[in-house]
Amino acid sequence: MSNEHAIVMSGIRPTGFLHLGNYFGAMRNYVKLQDQYTCFFMVADLHALTTHPDTKELKNNVHRVLAENIACGIDPDKAALYCQSHVRETSELYLYLNMLAYLGELEKTTTFKEKARMQPDNVNAGLLTYPVLQTADIILHRATWVPVGKDQEQHLEMARNFVNRFNHRYGEVFPAPMAYNFGEDLVKVPSLDGTGKMSKSENQLATLYLADSDDLIRKKVMKAKTDGGPTSPNSLKPDYIENIFQLMRLVSSMDVIHHYELAFNDCTIRYGDMKKQLAEDMVRFIAPIRGKAESIRTNETYLKEIMEKGADKARESAAATMKLVREAMGLQY
Ligand code: TRP
Repeated sequence: MSNEHAIVMSGIRPTGFLHLGNYFGAMRNYVKLQDQYTCFFMVADLHALTTHPDTKELKNNVHRVLAENIACGIDPDKAALYCQSHVRETSELYLYLNMLAYLGELEKTTTFKEKARMQPDNVNAGLLTYPVLQTADIILHRATWVPVGKDQEQHLEMARNFVNRFNHRYGEVFPAPMAYNFGEDLVKVPSLDGTGKMSKSENQLATLYLADSDDLIRKKVMKAKTDGGPTSPNSLKPDYIENIFQLMRLVSSMDVIHHYELAFNDCTIRYGDMKKQLAEDMVRFIAPIRGKAESIRTNETYLKEIMEKGADKARESAAATMKLVREAMGLQY
């Protein structure tokens, strides 16, 4: 990152439970960023409406996501942790940006095509302009760094295009937002079925959620794919075994990892025992986060307070930007 005063912004959709992949891939890094930069972390409840028009569960989901973020270490005193719909300036900027976004480019967006395929009966305009709203979220704070996964890179490229068009047409108001890449810090969290990474949409039993009960964690870990063990010393580990070691490296002690590395190399390893150990270490890691999230989630007064505090910080930054925007656009009569 280029300078200390850089502004970091990211959003998370309130449409699923946080899992271990989110924790090691994103949350843990957000926690580091909040100590170094001005950070805005937002729950994207408006974005959720593009795919989840039924709002019955929305409040619960927003509360849960906020609670899980705080339990993972996001500090509402350091970062602005807020809810998208609480910052009305977002909708205003979104409207202006819509005039700079072309139908052709929106229709070509990978996530749009995917979601249109998933919900053919509800290909709404909000779905089409999803990247425009995301751009508004980011540039509302004139943020330059956006810590997101690979799946969001196209949206960021579009954000840069919208920014360039705005600046070109109305004058330099916005810096170009870039994906913040954690590089070395980006830990891969393999799924328990030996294929790919842990993720919301894939096999639920192969993903460990921060809300999983102790027994469910044990059950999922014990189901992880193994085999009869290596038959010759110092063999190469098959992918699914390497994955179990990788998960151990995230939550187990050095001694434990070392023990199983040796046991693998001299062919004395018993995967049943190894998984039991991993399950207990996972429980020890996840249970406190789950407990903390649960107690925050059920404390509505506290949640209201932090949402209000976050929204105040976000609105202050948004108001300053919108003043510049209206000036630049000549919307002052
Ligand atoms: N589109 C993002 C996702 O699906 C969520 C999001 C909304 C976001 N607004 C944002 C991410 C702004 C980064 C910046 O994960």
